[in-house]
Amino acid sequence: MNQPRVRTPVAVDGRLGPASRHPGMADPAYLARRRALGELARDHRVGDPAPTVTYSDAEHRMWGLVHRTLVRVQRRHACRAIADVIEAVDIPDDHVPQHAEVNSRLQRLTGFRFTLTGGLVDSRRLYGAMADGYFHGVQYLRHPAVPFYTPEPDALHDLVGHGTQLAAPRFAELYRVIGRAVHRVETAEAVSLIDRLFWFTVEYGVVRENGDLKAYGAALLSSYGEIECFRDAEIRPLDLRAMANTPYQINGYQPILYRAESLDHLTDTLGEFFDEMDDDTPVRLCHWPGTRD
Ligand SMILES: [Fe+2]
Repeated sequence: MNQPRVRTPVAVDGRLGPASRHPGMADPAYLARRRALGELARDHRVGDPAPTVTYSDAEHRMWGLVHRTLVRVQRRHACRAIADVIEAVDIPDDHVPQHAEVNSRLQRLTGFRFTLTGGLVDSRRLYGAMADGYFHGVQYLRHPAVPFYTPEPDALHDLVGHGTQLAAPRFAELYRVIGRAVHRVETAEAVSLIDRLFWFTVEYGVVRENGDLKAYGAALLSSYGEIECFRDAEIRPLDLRAMANTPYQINGYQPILYRAESLDHLTDTLGEFFDEMDDDTPVRLCHWPGTRD
């Protein structure tokens, strides 16, 4: 995508630096482990069972540490629809779960399941599978030296962030609506528009609730540091045209977040938009002609 990349802040011992200096990038054993788990996803087809991974004791310990911390902050900062399903989805905190383990609970709650990817996944494949109740997830974990920050999605982001969100029926339906929209459009511009709206809502959305601001975006729900301070960002009212024309930064804490006035406001606005979206939508809405993947 033609999205701007910015310097990537990484918290290392309280300091910030670029993602290229993240400890994971300079640890051959970690990179080999990540590559090996990514390889398992080669030739994986949507809906195939994910291979069982044997995680190390250190990986289990890190999962537990980060998971328990995230759930604690989710209870404090997540919107009610998300906080209410933390118990029901019951993502384990004493071991790294296999996809199948999380899927059995998710499927009972909303019909959603994780399907495997080895890393970042093409937008059309990612959203397209959502129409059928599948969300792509990885099996590797972040580097243990910086357990509360990862410069890219890992199993903690996927399972504790998206997994918790997908346990809430209203959010699961939103994923399906977005999935159906991507099946309807053909142009790269339309997919790029979905990328931006997905980013500012499903990943980083916030909502007003009882006079307070709460998080519902999966990236916020899975970032211990950012969910604690997201209210310091520039908070703008939910505005699809503004989102469509605001580039997002891939890494680091987001400087701009968009606020829905209620969950109804969010789902009504996005539901109506994605139900009607077609290839003409970016022509009407966007000021970035020529944007192509
Ligand atoms: Fe995500």
